[in-house]
Amino acid sequence: MRNPQKVGAATPTSAAVAGVVAQVVPTTGQPVVLELGPGTGSLSGGIRERLPAGARHVGIELVDEMVRHLQVHAPWMELVHGDAGDLVPLLAERGVDQVDAVISSLPWSLLGEADQDRILGEVTKVLAPHGAFTALTYLPAEHNTGGRRFRQRLAATFDEVITHTTWRNLPPILHYICRRPLL
Ligand SMILES: C[S@@+](CC[C@H](N)C(=O)[O-])C[C@H]1O[C@@H](n2cnc3c(N)ncnc32)[C@H](O)[C@@H]1O
Repeated sequence: MRNPQKVGAATPTSAAVAGVVAQVVPTTGQPVVLELGPGTGSLSGGIRERLPAGARHVGIELVDEMVRHLQVHAPWMELVHGDAGDLVPLLAERGVDQVDAVISSLPWSLLGEADQDRILGEVTKVLAPHGAFTALTYLPAEHNTGGRRFRQRLAATFDEVITHTTWRNLPPILHYICRRPLL
């Protein structure tokens, strides 16, 4: 509530949302999964449950209060206090140049054009060819300027963009599940 523009949500997302999001998490091998804007960690537990031994779960979170919360409630996450727009150098510092899945719950529809483009550009640089990128917006936000622009950007950035609605969240959540960046 103290930081509506950056956080973009009044309440954590529901378990139903977490269940849908976690489906892109690989359950075999030694995948690296990147979570952008883990916030209160409401999606993080579901991601962790699917990860096999030896996997890495890296989170990049901007807001100080959220970082402190995650350090207490999700100590197993490799948490980076930073901006998703710098994800390539932030991952490089940790020896990561490719990730198998990116799960983002950034407030995409509130971000300006330059920020949307910058973060999506960084995502396409690290996403493995077989990887998946997911994003969430509140369903009503799909119709505002930022939401419409984000949808267009996704269509221009990825070969495949699938949508799914989770109605068991207030307000309902629109998921985008994207694969094969058009480089
Ligand atoms: C909608 S909220 C988090 C949702 C999370 N699933 C939850 O239920 O708590 C968005 C999160 O993205 C974070 N955030 C916003 N802009 C960011 C950025 N540029 N880089 C990293 N995190 C950012 C916010 O601080 C917030 O924690």
